[in-house]
Amino acid sequence: MEPSRLTDPTKETAVMPTDQTTDQTTEPPIAHDPPTSPVTPGADPRMGDRIRKDDRAHVFHSWSAQHAIEPLPIAGGQGATFWDYEGNRYLDFGSQLVNLNIGFQHPKIVEAIKRQADLLCTVAPSFAESSRSQAARMIAEIAPGDLDVVFFTNGGAEATENAARMARLVTGRHKILAAYRSYHGATAGAITMTGDPRRWPSEPGMPGVVHFFGPYLYRSSFAAQTEQEECERALAHLREVIEFEGPEQVAGIILETVVGTNGILVPPPGYLEGVRALCDRYGIVMIADEVMAGFGRCGEWFAVDHWNVIPDLITFAKGVNSGYVPLGGVIMRQSIADAFADRPFPGGLTYSGHPLACAAAVASIEVFKEEGILEHARSLGTGVFGPGLLALYDRHRSIGQTRGLGVFWAIELVKNRQTREMLVPYNASGPDAAPMQAVVGACKKRGLWPFAHFNRIHAVPPLVISEEDALRGLAILDEALGVADSFVEE
Ligand SMILES: Cc1ncc(COP(=O)(O)O)c(C=O)c1O
Repeated sequence: MEPSRLTDPTKETAVMPTDQTTDQTTEPPIAHDPPTSPVTPGADPRMGDRIRKDDRAHVFHSWSAQHAIEPLPIAGGQGATFWDYEGNRYLDFGSQLVNLNIGFQHPKIVEAIKRQADLLCTVAPSFAESSRSQAARMIAEIAPGDLDVVFFTNGGAEATENAARMARLVTGRHKILAAYRSYHGATAGAITMTGDPRRWPSEPGMPGVVHFFGPYLYRSSFAAQTEQEECERALAHLREVIEFEGPEQVAGIILETVVGTNGILVPPPGYLEGVRALCDRYGIVMIADEVMAGFGRCGEWFAVDHWNVIPDLITFAKGVNSGYVPLGGVIMRQSIADAFADRPFPGGLTYSGHPLACAAAVASIEVFKEEGILEHARSLGTGVFGPGLLALYDRHRSIGQTRGLGVFWAIELVKNRQTREMLVPYNASGPDAAPMQAVVGACKKRGLWPFAHFNRIHAVPPLVISEEDALRGLAILDEALGVADSFVEE
């Protein structure tokens, strides 16, 4: 179960305040053949050195002080497992950046991309094209209610950006309300809507964005003691923000249906319904950002399906095709599409609905259906991660809370269970973040690539991970959390 060779965790990329992780498993439970990658694990350390040298000289990496990182050259992956050029294998407990829902190298998706490449690699968005129209139809079929029309983008930020633009244009208003503890992307408007420290260096950003607090009972902004109190008070707070900003000024409310990077915050029963009611009452466009929570991550096609809430716009990316080729988009209700029936929509992208990306999306949605991915994600949630993480809670006093659903889980680490003081401070970096670095290092040393953010470890592997590998990942976390326990001050 140990990696065939171990990496030095001190040589790995620093824990960044962003979605940087990966996990892996060998074979998914469902229908994958054994690895067929041309690279044999451990085959070529010299190639790894060459890649590292070129990378360090010429690649400028996201969110990083360029001299503070040492990106690991990756040779290949299969299912929920990837490996480097030294022969180290890692179970990817972060699905790369929580996008690899279908796992590495699914043969059906690889084949679909190859077939589309033979047929037609690219075509301008102004044409109708087979893979694009098929992907749009299939996404409309699985989307809730009358969200039947898709505007394709290249990723999540462009999706949230365009959703805000649509909300403004259809309402004729300009303000967008967005939650603290959120991430909506790194382009100008998307980063302004983001409710975490990644926004700060880009301010002042897009005018008209106002932030509010969403529900988070464990660290309640409303002194609530129960889920019901948290729900009622968070909704009262949101109503107050709307009233103080001027309801007739507010175009849209954007929120992550289940907050992802900022903590896997599952809304209490009634919250999303309450947001929907406020939007209806004030004529505000409700935007559910499902870039991370959608496409099976929460055990349903879309996370909103858990609450039977129908937003006006859903943004998606990541899991739509697991990032085999970049793709994102906005799914809109017919009424929003109709608003642009006789006037042009003032937005577009050269690669909107790229044929290779759309072919990958079609194949991925088919795989979800054929291989029972949603059912598998649900059963991993209720049968493995839910009980498995609770068992870890019983064994580790550094765990303040575990929470999640489907294959979307967080372990919140604390110095003290009574005071709930975070294991590392909010937005910690450098020496302040050392305890989390140590936990991450302990995971990697044991062959688990975790997803870490602030004082949390997220368990978010590909949805195709086998039960056996999920349990193996939890067993590694069990060992690594011993490191976190050593920082507890009780
Ligand atoms: C909820 C959410 N929205 C938007 C984005 C931005 O997506 P992208 O990185 O594809 O631009 C992310 C990325 O992590 C996300 O998690």
